[in-house]
Amino acid sequence: MNAQRSLFVTTALPYANGPFHVGHIMEYIQADIWVRFQRMQGHRVHFVCADDAHGAPIMLKAHAEGLTPEALVANIAAGRKQYLDGFGIDFNHWHSTHSPENTALSQDIFRRLNAGGLIERKPVEQFYDPVKGMFLADRYIKGTCPKCHAKEQYGDACEVCGAVYAPIELIDPYSTLSGAAPIRKSSDHYFFRLSDPRCTAFLRSWLDKSERLQPQVANKAREWLSGTDEQKLGDWDISRDAPYFGIRIPDIAEEKYFYVWLDAPVGYLASLKNYFDRGKARAQGETRSFEEFLSAPNTEQVHFIGKDIIYFHTLFWPAMLHFAGTPYKVPDHVYVHGFITVSGEKMSKSRGTGISPLRYLELGLNPEWLRYYIAAKLNANVEDVDFNPDDFVARVNSDLVGKYVNIVSRVAGFLSKRFDGQLAPQGDAAGEALLQTLRAAREELASAYEAREFGKVVREVMRLADLTNQYADSARPWDLAKDPARADELHRACSTLTRAFEVLTRYLAPILPKLAAQAADILNVDFSRWEQATPLTQIKPYSHLTTRVDPKQMDALFALPTAADQGSGSAVKPKTKETPTMSTSPTDDVATAPTYASITDFQKLDLRIARITAASTVDGSDKLLKLTLDLGNETRTVFSGIQSAYQPEQLVGRLTVMIANLAPRKMRFGISEGMVLAASDDGPGVFLLSPDTGALPGMRVE
Ligand code: 2FM
Ligand code: ZN
Repeated sequence: MNAQRSLFVTTALPYANGPFHVGHIMEYIQADIWVRFQRMQGHRVHFVCADDAHGAPIMLKAHAEGLTPEALVANIAAGRKQYLDGFGIDFNHWHSTHSPENTALSQDIFRRLNAGGLIERKPVEQFYDPVKGMFLADRYIKGTCPKCHAKEQYGDACEVCGAVYAPIELIDPYSTLSGAAPIRKSSDHYFFRLSDPRCTAFLRSWLDKSERLQPQVANKAREWLSGTDEQKLGDWDISRDAPYFGIRIPDIAEEKYFYVWLDAPVGYLASLKNYFDRGKARAQGETRSFEEFLSAPNTEQVHFIGKDIIYFHTLFWPAMLHFAGTPYKVPDHVYVHGFITVSGEKMSKSRGTGISPLRYLELGLNPEWLRYYIAAKLNANVEDVDFNPDDFVARVNSDLVGKYVNIVSRVAGFLSKRFDGQLAPQGDAAGEALLQTLRAAREELASAYEAREFGKVVREVMRLADLTNQYADSARPWDLAKDPARADELHRACSTLTRAFEVLTRYLAPILPKLAAQAADILNVDFSRWEQATPLTQIKPYSHLTTRVDPKQMDALFALPTAADQGSGSAVKPKTKETPTMSTSPTDDVATAPTYASITDFQKLDLRIARITAASTVDGSDKLLKLTLDLGNETRTVFSGIQSAYQPEQLVGRLTVMIANLAPRKMRFGISEGMVLAASDDGPGVFLLSPDTGALPGMRVE
């Protein structure tokens, strides 16, 4: 074995404002496969993550839900385990950025940067919401574009003409939180002086170290670092005024907080520290303290992240760590992946449209199918990964089950029934040659794992499975079994095929840990190491390892379990006998008792005021209109069955009410991300709901 590596591996910390979406799960699966491979190599890995708990959106969401931010974050944290266990993601530890460790580490790093002359305090004039009593981030300000005069544009850029501006340039600005006209107010902020020549010189050399980053990531970071004359890397505003849910800036009387992106990456270290301090690292054989481990020259710090947060991880984060000094160390690798799309459509990070990972588990779909499918599609580039249901079914059924699992499922029974589970010590010449070919792929596959070329691993293993199946087709054990005189040949062929399966299972073990554990039990071998430790001599009776996917399971995964099953993104619902009613008439053949909704039932619905900013007919549908809805701080697309009642142009600009937290529904025409409310009865006519004057997009209907 090569020298034992000492690895500290993280995935990006998810915001604690919602459950995981499939994008998170993809990243965790990618990192988990890499970590499991490293462990199989005998390396020591501490693999940690945490909730990213701070920031204005979480504070405001908690407020909207009548919770403290702490309670909101705790609720979200309580839901994490079922996903991680469900998909076999083997983090050593999960923590939170809202923790004493993160407070101490963030404040320590800040003090060290300050002592090094890299922090500057200066006044900043910003918009302030006089009703909410808080400064407004750009996303909470809207107004008319100063360039093209398009209405309802955000505070940083115009979605119509593409102009980029400061919020104070907006015409008729308003706060999306209260609707009030914001006022300009000055306050002192703290800046990390990234433009200091020491920082830029350090970052240049950090970016130049080969293999630290994927080439396209290093190039992007270099572009930002060099900038154009107008867009030189600016100093970074790292403070926010109260009210804010975050970590206090130390050593000052005023109530100021670190901007969430300052303490979020420090959360990697906070999680690691908590893991060490609780003795969990020791249980992994780690005898050093957190500080000793972190500052050891051979410790490798590796971050897996998505392409949207490269900026923070390749500029701010390494600079913070470098200038904070020992025991902090700069990242050794930042591995960036693309996004996951579903049938070619982008999924929204905040709303998690696409596949619900929890629904996947609840439907009883095998988590290892998803691990296998994602691995098959991943490479070391920053490329998006598309989840396509037909492709998923084909790869699982034809490749995973048809080519690989079938190798053993077809022959294990012969070994158990005819040979007491004993394997023949040697195969025939063709069988031995096959095993040699399979074993010879070990180094190449190890390099592919190391380089995160998991698609290459899967392709190579499937090529080896094809060779194995060719051997099976020529040896024909099922025919040999019919002739008692050929028992020896049968024994050798089945033994070779079982050994081939063992070799391939070891190669796939980082991707399919549960299947490998079941196979280890049947084969009496150990798949915890990349090298085979004990030879395969005796198997237990075979029990099935995985089934095929039923395409109907994919339909169920994409179907909506709620009212939107009615067929459109509109709550217009024809009255039918199935409709629960409040009638208690004994002649009513459906409802014999009143059906009440509890207040808790009602509170589950997130009803919002929405402005229809665009409406169009839908090719291929005579019922639907495609609506673009502005919810104040986000935009949704909804397909609504109201074409019979409205011309699209009648709707543009008007306000209505929508259910904002309905599970997104994949329709033939695209994804419908909610439902607008309308009234109807048995007669003709559909009437869209409108709020009273004064209501603003995004307001909650309660
Ligand atoms: O983009 C995000 O989802 C952030 N919560 C990621 C933070 S990663 C790290 F810096 F904490
Ligand atoms: Zn504009």
